[in-house]
Formats: sequence, structure tokens, C-alpha cells
Amino acid sequence: MDKIKIGIIGTGYMGGTHAQLYARSERAAVHAVYDIRPERMERVSKQTGAKCMESGEQVIESCDAIIVTTPNSKHTALTIAAANAGKAVFSEKPMATNLTEARAVLEASKNARVFQVGHNRRFAPVYVKLKELINEDRVHSAHIKMNRGELQNPEWTGEAEVTGGFLYETTIHLFDMMRFQFGEVAEMLAFGSSQTYPETDNFSVLLKFVNGLHATFCSAADASWIFPFERVEAFCEHRTIMTQEMENLTDSRGTDPNFQFFSWHLLSKEERWGYSQENEQFIDAILNETEPPVTAFDGYKSVELVEACYKAVKTGERIVFD
Ligand SMILES: NC(=O)c1ccc[n+]([C@@H]2O[C@H](COP(=O)([O-])OP(=O)(O)OC[C@H]3O[C@@H](n4cnc5c(N)ncnc54)[C@H](O)[C@@H]3O)[C@@H](O)[C@H]2O)c1
Repeated sequence: MDKIKIGIIGTGYMGGTHAQLYARSERAAVHAVYDIRPERMERVSKQTGAKCMESGEQVIESCDAIIVTTPNSKHTALTIAAANAGKAVFSEKPMATNLTEARAVLEASKNARVFQVGHNRRFAPVYVKLKELINEDRVHSAHIKMNRGELQNPEWTGEAEVTGGFLYETTIHLFDMMRFQFGEVAEMLAFGSSQTYPETDNFSVLLKFVNGLHATFCSAADASWIFPFERVEAFCEHRTIMTQEMENLTDSRGTDPNFQFFSWHLLSKEERWGYSQENEQFIDAILNETEPPVTAFDGYKSVELVEACYKAVKTGERIVFD
């Protein structure tokens, strides 16, 4: 069987990560790469044997599956072109940086062989375990945190016109995670402020889900990188299930402070963060002609939550979803 020809557009940190993983795959090969910074594509080309191309369009033409790992606001033109060319498309998160473009991608995704969005955390063993435990109990409320240490690295993370805003850059991961774990959001109230950067960089959000669960969610761009920058605490009757980044999960049941502890610290980062698994399942979806595990609709819904949060902060309104 011929290997699936992977093309990567944007060969920085994430493009490089996906390239390394696909270079080890028995079912796929990194065939072509393009980056506006030639030294970056040459580095990945040397590591993987991929051809250096002169444009994103050339990558799209020459490959079966296109991985778009450019900065946030540079995803949609490329993913739409790749989808309309009938290719399999993997868009890094966020799928888009506004609702108009998210709708356009959703529409174009119908023409793609497969369209998957890079919400990698869904595949991280810690969140797979959280979902398993949540499914066996009834979570009634939750507290969620998703912080960053800075908006400085990569250099464009401080430019809201490139990221779409801090919520698109970082917080969107856990907006998607909330849907994955708790289902659709029914109502949202949010407060925000600009503390360190020119954009709104601190958020406090209250959420109610369709299933009645309610949650608090905080997200700060100028916190330190102290462990854990990301955490979910889910509360059930006499039970707390708590995650810390992609590292570990504590499950405490009963009325004593007893707990069971699960840790994934021995896994490689690519497995701990779900990158290996999301790529394998992307290839599965292509070969089996099945729906990918994170669809364009999922990508759209996470953009919708981000937009709702910005609107709630700006207007002070309580957002009620249809
Ligand atoms: N899923 C995750 O955990 C995760 C982690 C980090 C980043 N990301 C996402 O991955 C994407 C890339 O982030 P990164 O950290 O790799 O950034 P990066 O700056 O390291 O890499 C982006 C690359 O894209 C190149 N580029 C810019 N415009 C281009 C264009 N029009 N055509 C081709 N190349 C272009 C840049 O030169 C750079 O090399 C972002 O959307 C980010 O949100 C996801």
C-alpha cells in the first residue's frame, strides 16, 4: 500500500512536531513542506526527506493530506483551498478566528476527503480517563483553569490580529474540552480585563450546560507558567475528579480525603499531549473513509464559544445559546 503523502504548511513548532510524528509512520510519509521562512522548511525537509515547495498551493497540489500549522489567522485560506481541492485536511486549532470564516470552513469541509481540527487534548490520556470516570458518575459542577505564562512566544502570540485574541490562542483548548466532557453550553456570563497586554488578557466565566451542570472557568494570559497551568476539577456526589495539565489525575471518593492517583509522566510528550493519537486517528479516518474524531463542526462550536465569551465581556450580557 502506498503511503499517504503528507504536506505541511508552516513548519515552526507544531508543524515540526507533526512532521516528526508522520516521519515515523508506517502509513504516511512527509512528502512536501512550505514555510515563508525558508530555513524552517529546510530544517524539516532535512529531518523528514520532504520536498521544499514554493507555496502552500504547491503543497496542496502535490499531497493527499494537508496539515496547516501556520499562525491562527493564517489557517482558513489554506484549509478552504485544500478542502475544495478534495484533500484530507488537518487544521491546527483554532479552526478560524471569527465566526464568518468558521462558517466558510465548515461549508468547505464538506468537499474535503476528511477534515479534522487539532484539538489534541481530547486524545491526551488524562482527558480520556476523565471522560471515562465522568461517564460512570454524575458531575454536577466543575471548576476549570487554563492559564499562560506570557504572550511572547512565539512572537506573534502577542498580536491579537494574528491570534484572533488570547481566547483563540490558548483558552479555546478548554472551551473544546468542556464540550467534550460536559456537552453543549446553554448559558454564559463573563468578565474580563486587560492587565498586562493591549488586549483582554484575563477572563472569569460562568457557564451552565444543557444537562444542568454549572461551572466556573478562569483564564489568564499573564500568569506564570507554574504547574499546573491547566486544570479541571469535576465535582460529583462526594467525589472530586481533578486533572493537572496532561500529567495526572486524582480521583477522590467518599467523605474521607482518600484518593486514587493516575499519572502519565512516563509517556513521551507527543503521547501525553495526544499529538501521536490525533495523527494516527487522522490517518485512520482517511484510510477507512470515516468521520474524523474532531470534526469541522467541533471546530466551529469552539469558535462560537470564544466569540460568545468576547461578546459577554464586551456587553455584560448573559449569552443564551439556541
Ligand atoms: N495543539 C496544540 O497543542 C498547539 C500548540 C502550539 C501551537 N498550536 C497552533 O499551531 C499553529 C502554529 O503554532 P506554532 O507554535 O507552531 O507557531 P510557529 O511560529 O512556531 O510556527 C508557525 C510557522 O508558520 C510559518 N508561516 C506563517 N505564515 C505562513 C504562511 N502564510 N505560509 C506558510 N508558512 C507560514 C511561520 O514562518 C512559522 O514557521 C498555531 O495556530 C497555534 O495556535 C497548537
